[in-house]
Amino acid sequence: MAKHKSIMYALVLGSSLCLNLLYVARDRWDWDQSWVSEAAEEAEAVASISCSGHGRAYPDGLIVEGLPVCECNDCYRGPDCSEFVPDCVVDADSGDPMFLEPFWMKHAASSTIVVPAWHRMSYEFNDGSLISEELKNQILKLHDIIRNANTSGRHIIFGAGATQLLNAAVYALSHDDDPSEARVVASAPYYPVYKEQTELFDSEDFEFSGDTSSWKNDYDPLHSYIELVTSPNNPDGKLRKAVLQGQSVHFIHDLAYYWPHFTAIPAPADENLVLFTLSKLTGHAGSRFGWALVKDEAVYQRMLTYMSLSTYGVPRETQLRVLKLLKVVIEEGEGREIFEFGFQIMSKRWEDIHRIISMSKRFSLQDIGPQFCSFNQGVREASPAFAWLKCEKEEDMDCYNVLKASKIIGREGVMFGAESRFVRLSLVKSQDDFNLLLQRIEKMVRQESNIILEENNEAPTSRNGSCAVNVDHFVGS
Ligand SMILES: Cc1ncc(COP(=O)(O)O)c(C=O)c1O
Repeated sequence: MAKHKSIMYALVLGSSLCLNLLYVARDRWDWDQSWVSEAAEEAEAVASISCSGHGRAYPDGLIVEGLPVCECNDCYRGPDCSEFVPDCVVDADSGDPMFLEPFWMKHAASSTIVVPAWHRMSYEFNDGSLISEELKNQILKLHDIIRNANTSGRHIIFGAGATQLLNAAVYALSHDDDPSEARVVASAPYYPVYKEQTELFDSEDFEFSGDTSSWKNDYDPLHSYIELVTSPNNPDGKLRKAVLQGQSVHFIHDLAYYWPHFTAIPAPADENLVLFTLSKLTGHAGSRFGWALVKDEAVYQRMLTYMSLSTYGVPRETQLRVLKLLKVVIEEGEGREIFEFGFQIMSKRWEDIHRIISMSKRFSLQDIGPQFCSFNQGVREASPAFAWLKCEKEEDMDCYNVLKASKIIGREGVMFGAESRFVRLSLVKSQDDFNLLLQRIEKMVRQESNIILEENNEAPTSRNGSCAVNVDHFVGS
């Protein structure tokens, strides 16, 4: 009987073991069924939808008959974006850095990531932190290559773009021992978000107090100041230094554009609190990622408090993506390829718009010349992210509407704390957007030359000496 029982036990145990093995084997087999290739096929199928080079289909876009539809660039329409809309309005308002998209299309294989559903589901990394150590290391490495910021002895904080870090920094600098309300100032023309964001938060601890220059001679030592220094500046691309001096002045250096695409890098930034953003480095504005390098431990701790209570860190999916992108930036062409690519596009765009505007008496552009760049080890041409256009004629006070009448939408100068004679035109959008902008500007300048010729009773036939611009290269280049 006992022998019979042990045979039974052995049989049950044996079959249970077999079943487990079968399940494990089936799981393993499922696992090996390359779940990645299914996802990859899906991604590649969407990427291969043709939008005639004037749009793009995305897996999270609108689905029609089971397939994502093309999202067309401005002034293009139709199911495959092949129809050009000749009289459309050209939007040069936003600083959407789509000019780098071709770089990432070229590096599709090395820059694509796979995010499994169980990727870092936890609130924290294993060490309890909210930031990837490896990503932090890559950022520091990149600054060492480009030599645009001194990173030694700095703390690093990640944020949902520089936009979130700006407020974290204002919060941290205004919550020191000083009980007075901090005056937040910036030199006009300044990035409009500084004013808009400070006013939105409507804090008892800080208040937007306008143009820095108005406080330079009216500095009140009983007040604390937070000066926002943008270098190169948005909108005019000029490299800037702090203006205010004094014990109760704190600085936030917004270095969003301090990369070789947009400016010469004369020397590494060495300030106490500097901000950078992925948006203007790789063009991935939608990933919402930025970082701050902070010298002072107490300021760093207050920024950490802000970050942890507002969002509890940057999504881990974003950090994974940024890590991959930065690895490509660092590895391709020994850390030079994306910057050479970016500089080539931006300097060509500046040269094109500058050439046309220089033929005009009605409009002018900011003056930024060649400069020594430590990254290039030589003098290089200007390549700003924006054209800061001025309407020169007495009657063209409202420059925004002057351009709007010619179907160009820019950003009004008054938003930057400047006169309404100024308008910012974005040069960082897609090639389609830039080509259209250039064509419209060329048309305006040509009309202006014709008017001058007519006023002088000359036949408006020859374009020589006026605006003889070859428009062939505008289309599809
Ligand atoms: C000067 C400046 N700072 C900060 C930002 C915000 O960048 P982010 O996209 O990282 O929020 C921008 C965006 O255009 C900017 O121009």
